[in-house]
Amino acid sequence: MDFWNSWVGFFLLFSFWVGVFCDQDGFLSLSCGGRTSFNDSSNILWTPDTEYISTGTTAISYNENNSSSNVSLRFFPDSQGRRCYKLPLNNATSLVLVRAKFVYNNYDGLEHPPTFSVSLDTAIAATVNLTKDDPWIEEFLWTVNKDTLPFCLLATPNGGFPVISSLEIRPLPRGAYKNGMEDFPNKLLRKSYRIDCGYANNESIRYPLDAYDRIWEADRSFTPFHVATGFKIQLTFNQSGLMEKPPATVLQTGRVLARRNLLTYNLPLDALGDYYIILYFAGILPVFPSFDVFINGEIIKSNYKINSSEVSAIYVTQKGIRSLNITLKSISFYPQINAFEVYQMVDIPPEVSSTTVSALQVIQQSAGLDLGWQDDPCSPSTWDHVGCEGSLVTSLDLSGVNFRSITPTFGDLLDLKKLDLHNTSLAGEIQNLGSLQHLEKLNLSFNQLKSFGVELDNLVSLQILDLQNNSLQGLVPESLGELENLHYLNLENNKLSGPLPESLNTPTIEIRTSGNLCLSFSAAVCDDGSFTPSIETPQVTIIPRRKHKTHKHLAIILSLVGGATLVLFLIFLSIILHMTKRRYEVSHTSREEIDIRNWGAAKVFSYKEIKAATGNFKEVIGRGSFGSVYHGKLPDGKSVAVKVRLDKTQLGADSFINEVHLLSKIRHQNLVTLEGFCHESKHQILVYEFLAGGSLADRLYGTNSQKRSLSWVRRLKIAVDAAKGLDYLHNGSEPRIIHRDVKCSNILLDEEMNGKVCDFGLSKQVTKAGATHVTTVVKGTAGYLDPEYYSTQQLTEKSDVYSFGVVLLELICGREPLNHSGSPDSFNLVLWAKPYLQAEAFEIVDDGIKGNFDVESMRKTAYIAVKSVESDASLRPTIAEVLAELQEAYDIQLRYLEPL
Ligand SMILES: *[C@@H]1O[C@H](CO)[C@@H](O)[C@H](O)[C@H]1NC(C)=O
Ligand SMILES: *[C@@H]1O[C@H](CO)[C@@H](O)[C@H](O)[C@H]1NC(C)=O
Ligand SMILES: *[C@@H]1O[C@H](CO)[C@@H](O)[C@H](O)[C@H]1NC(C)=O
Ligand SMILES: *[C@@H]1O[C@H](CO)[C@@H](O)[C@H](O)[C@H]1NC(C)=O
Ligand SMILES: *[C@@H]1O[C@H](CO)[C@@H](O)[C@H](O)[C@H]1NC(C)=O
Ligand SMILES: *[C@@H]1O[C@H](CO)[C@@H](O)[C@H](O)[C@H]1NC(C)=O
Ligand SMILES: *[C@@H]1O[C@H](CO)[C@@H](O)[C@H](O)[C@H]1NC(C)=O
Ligand SMILES: *[C@@H]1O[C@H](CO)[C@@H](O)[C@H](O)[C@H]1NC(C)=O
Repeated sequence: MDFWNSWVGFFLLFSFWVGVFCDQDGFLSLSCGGRTSFNDSSNILWTPDTEYISTGTTAISYNENNSSSNVSLRFFPDSQGRRCYKLPLNNATSLVLVRAKFVYNNYDGLEHPPTFSVSLDTAIAATVNLTKDDPWIEEFLWTVNKDTLPFCLLATPNGGFPVISSLEIRPLPRGAYKNGMEDFPNKLLRKSYRIDCGYANNESIRYPLDAYDRIWEADRSFTPFHVATGFKIQLTFNQSGLMEKPPATVLQTGRVLARRNLLTYNLPLDALGDYYIILYFAGILPVFPSFDVFINGEIIKSNYKINSSEVSAIYVTQKGIRSLNITLKSISFYPQINAFEVYQMVDIPPEVSSTTVSALQVIQQSAGLDLGWQDDPCSPSTWDHVGCEGSLVTSLDLSGVNFRSITPTFGDLLDLKKLDLHNTSLAGEIQNLGSLQHLEKLNLSFNQLKSFGVELDNLVSLQILDLQNNSLQGLVPESLGELENLHYLNLENNKLSGPLPESLNTPTIEIRTSGNLCLSFSAAVCDDGSFTPSIETPQVTIIPRRKHKTHKHLAIILSLVGGATLVLFLIFLSIILHMTKRRYEVSHTSREEIDIRNWGAAKVFSYKEIKAATGNFKEVIGRGSFGSVYHGKLPDGKSVAVKVRLDKTQLGADSFINEVHLLSKIRHQNLVTLEGFCHESKHQILVYEFLAGGSLADRLYGTNSQKRSLSWVRRLKIAVDAAKGLDYLHNGSEPRIIHRDVKCSNILLDEEMNGKVCDFGLSKQVTKAGATHVTTVVKGTAGYLDPEYYSTQQLTEKSDVYSFGVVLLELICGREPLNHSGSPDSFNLVLWAKPYLQAEAFEIVDDGIKGNFDVESMRKTAYIAVKSVESDASLRPTIAEVLAELQEAYDIQLRYLEPL
């Protein structure tokens, strides 16, 4: 150290370098969750962040209602989507420093620090892991290109709620941090290191010493020697391009290796990536050291000279590195360095084309929705309902939204490969999609579309076209067969008739046609224009009751074969059925009646009797896709519900008889009983016992007084009843039955509020012989549909468990499964409620039962409900397990004394 002391006197001659900036022009300092503005010790003005939070973002300030808390932080409780600030940028600046501080500090008492990502505009810029470090500070250099910067926190799965404590914007001078960066467009810089070499004291240096309020850390953790000259030297900046000017305080100190000729920094880096490095040198000694500069072993500058009282810098970019080694190797005198900065270069993904963005915005508005769509659809995360490939929007799924017609805006989404508009109330013509040249999958099912329109033939990439359950009429257009890539076409349950175009008659296309007036490749079959319903989908297993062997065999074969062969068989079967049916139509009524009389349980009614009982179908008590339900009174005074099938949903005679046969055998106190039926010429009518209490849905979403009658204990009792009914269908009945449409409106209540499951007529039987699932066309109700069943079309009992789980969530939360009115995050009951219930956050419990439930009972119910709606069916409990758990929850609640 003697060596350095001898220089001290000499340097005292140098004058102070004056350069104190105190002007805070363009500083923005947000205290997240803060309640008031204040000036800090550096006289920087901090303001609360509320007005900078982007609309649609849910954010809760931790200390909002807690005056004793000193932690200012904001957390974002909804785990999905982007949680954004919109930071204003002054258009006069070209580059800003954005600094964010994240603090967890166990504010929630859960000792579970979150992990989440941070994005600037479209770029995911960093991952914050508060387990590793708390507080956590991130700094970015952002090139200004717009007047606002979206700064978002992105929750990661199981990462907990994102938190933030402060957010700062500091303008940097024009041209700073540009040297050597010209070759790397569309990058932002994320700070890895900003080091004040040879620090003067322990403290990091920032505003007002650094006019731009960068934070310079002391380098004490790197190498053993440092020099702090202890006096100030007038320094000049040699290169005019050196715009990032470190503050004088930083440059006045340096690290010099006196007795060795190698000065080395070994710096670990967060991630493999490209890095931008700036080394600063200041001539603070009256000597002119020169040295070679190596980065990761590679020579960057040879014989680099530091001139006295002069500041210079070296700019380097290094690609694909994981750690950084900076070595200065002496040539003359000793190697020296005064400061350095290291930044990770982060790609900024391109934005989605403005046509696409505005089309999506128009679609959002026209449907009267707030889907929370803001900023870019694809980056940093994709919008809900949207799928992307790079910066192209390639899929859009808006099923369940009310659109009414396909507007021209859809035609602007030129990159779409997949468009799902099923169940969107579309009517009229299939139109405005002709421009979608990349479209591969189009789902327009479950709408009221009437006409094919003329544009479908332009969809040259189309592979899958699902038009089932519409009102399409007339002939299927020839041109569909010209779509070269088409391999699946579903036309089920429309009003189509006449021959199918021959061009579709190829083994490469799987066509589904059941439920139409008459559709066949054979022109002869439909020639007479008879409006007999076509065959059933091959799902209905035919019970071996009749002598008519052909059907049984076909059905069995059908259940064994799949894919394209299935289609061929289907067509074949359709022809045979048609021919045979017509032949014995004349006599079948009398034959059936003889059979039916033997069944005992269910009574046979004539149409006249039904008419009399219902007072000529006067009082409608329900409506569904199958037809209407009427109230009736039998001559013996018994009330009944009379379900009249619409023509289009009528089953073939065989199937109807089978169904009645099946239903009449099922007797369980928690299943609605079939009293009888009527099958006369055109009529298929089922007569059920009438339940005076209406449906669970009526109660839950009816008038306030109806709702008040549903205490928690009642809800549990009804759930237990319904579970018993389902358990009987799954495990007690022979054959086993999958309900397929479990929902609140299919759970009826009698006068004593006992629950009974109804509408299992649509059910799918499972033949006993070890079948684990059946492949079917997806049926059910939006909001209750098992996603796994929906995607695989393989139906198991677990699909009913899923739907029943949704019913349980409704009982807990008192809201419908799909709710278009709230914020987009609460749109889907399952997605919304799951995280709350998993966290036992019972604030989402229905107001009607708040304060009146036993927590343990609620916990059990919530647990089993959440398990039931697991997206992986194998993780769901069986209905028997659900029942057992509900029974326990019910027993616990029975012991609970409700507060008065
Ligand atoms: C902060 O300081 C500025 C000037 O020093 C003053 O005008 C302002 O009122 C102060 N604000 C607060 C909240 O203390
Ligand atoms: C704070 O209290 C207000 C009024 O009581 C309430 O609306 C708000 O939700 C509370 N905030 C938090 C974070 O609890
Ligand atoms: C308020 O904050 C203090 C200090 O952080 C904390 O101990 C206390 O639990 C909080 N109270 C409430 C009601 O959140
Ligand atoms: C809260 O912070 C202020 C300023 O940082 C400090 O003066 C005060 O003592 C703190 N209060 C508590 C309860 O910690
Ligand atoms: C900055 O914005 C102001 C007003 O918004 C405008 O008058 C000015 O021309 C803009 N300057 C630049 C450089 O774009
Ligand atoms: C966060 O850091 C901790 C401690 O370093 C580590 O155990 C954990 O795996 C990290 N979490 C994530 C999600 O990376
Ligand atoms: C500087 O840091 C060291 C170790 O971190 C500590 O021992 C020393 O007291 C600190 N000095 C000052 C002036 O804060
Ligand atoms: C800047 O430094 C270089 C070498 O480091 C030297 O050749 C040049 O003369 C200097 N320029 C000025 C203006 O001092």
